[in-house]
Amino acid sequence: MTRPVILTGDRTTGALHIGHYAGSLRNRLRFQDTHEQFLLLADTQALTDNAHDPDKVRRSVMEVALDYLAVGIDPAKTTICLQSHLPALAELSMLYLNFVTVARLERNPTIKDEIRSRGFGRDIPAGFLCYPAAQAADITAFKATVVPVGEDQAPLIEQTNDIVRRINTAAGQAILLEAQAVIPQAGRLPGVDGKAKMSKSGGNAIALSASPDEIAAAVKAMFTDPNHLRVEDPGRVEGNVVFTYLDAFDEDRAALEGLKAQYRRGGTGDSKIKRRLDDILQALIGPIRERRAQLAKDPAFVRDVIRSGTEKARSRTEATKREVVEGLGLFML
Ligand code: TRP
Repeated sequence: MTRPVILTGDRTTGALHIGHYAGSLRNRLRFQDTHEQFLLLADTQALTDNAHDPDKVRRSVMEVALDYLAVGIDPAKTTICLQSHLPALAELSMLYLNFVTVARLERNPTIKDEIRSRGFGRDIPAGFLCYPAAQAADITAFKATVVPVGEDQAPLIEQTNDIVRRINTAAGQAILLEAQAVIPQAGRLPGVDGKAKMSKSGGNAIALSASPDEIAAAVKAMFTDPNHLRVEDPGRVEGNVVFTYLDAFDEDRAALEGLKAQYRRGGTGDSKIKRRLDDILQALIGPIRERRAQLAKDPAFVRDVIRSGTEKARSRTEATKREVVEGLGLFML
């Protein structure tokens, strides 16, 4: 029995944080035992909105790879590979660009949002506008049918499937496979300040390498219920960042429900719920931080993991590219 193929990845723009852990890394740990999993260090895609800072993109390759390994991604089970070193991805992107219109790219809700949030105005890098075609190349080159991503990425998977259908129609045969986005039920973890998006640049993230003091400080500063002024007052659980985090990380669901009931009733201080969250995050991040520090001492090992993963991915993606070139009826040598 061959396992279904997963392809997912991250732009290499900085180290990952616990939002990534809750949203995707945790799922990937499970998937590596049930699927054939590829993780893409998406440095070329990172460049589409970071062309002014290629140093950051390069350095982040190592950071993200360290994060993967530190949380328990096992290179014997999961293939970690580097986008810029897989020429077939670039070649497929070029072919796919002929099967998508500029209007369709501009209509993509993810792209629209990102253009707005990055303040590109009229100066949108062409590589940025076109990255959905490149992401379609990433996914299809591996013949992935399962793509675990955050909610914000769903329109990219839809656009991938559009391209898949167009290529298959042009080729008169089903060369490429449609993919399904797997989106975590819990939704996105907010920043420690309660803002919808946790991001390193926003200064509201807890890194996977956070020190005990950094974790404690983040929890201490966390937004709770502004109307819960005295311990005796009833408190709100909804919109309370501490409870949102407990929902994401507390494995003792029964105890958590009990704590919520107590908090709603009144008589439970913020310090108590924060202490519980601090304990849980220290226990989660502690071992990740230690493993990460150990691995960081051996960059040659991490580099080897990326190199051998990229080699394995190279033959896979090259084979798909040849099928597409041939399927489209281009000249073969
Ligand atoms: N767009 C993803 C992100 O922003 C990274 C990515 C690149 C990706 N190629 C992919 C995700 C293919 C899933 C599948 O992090």
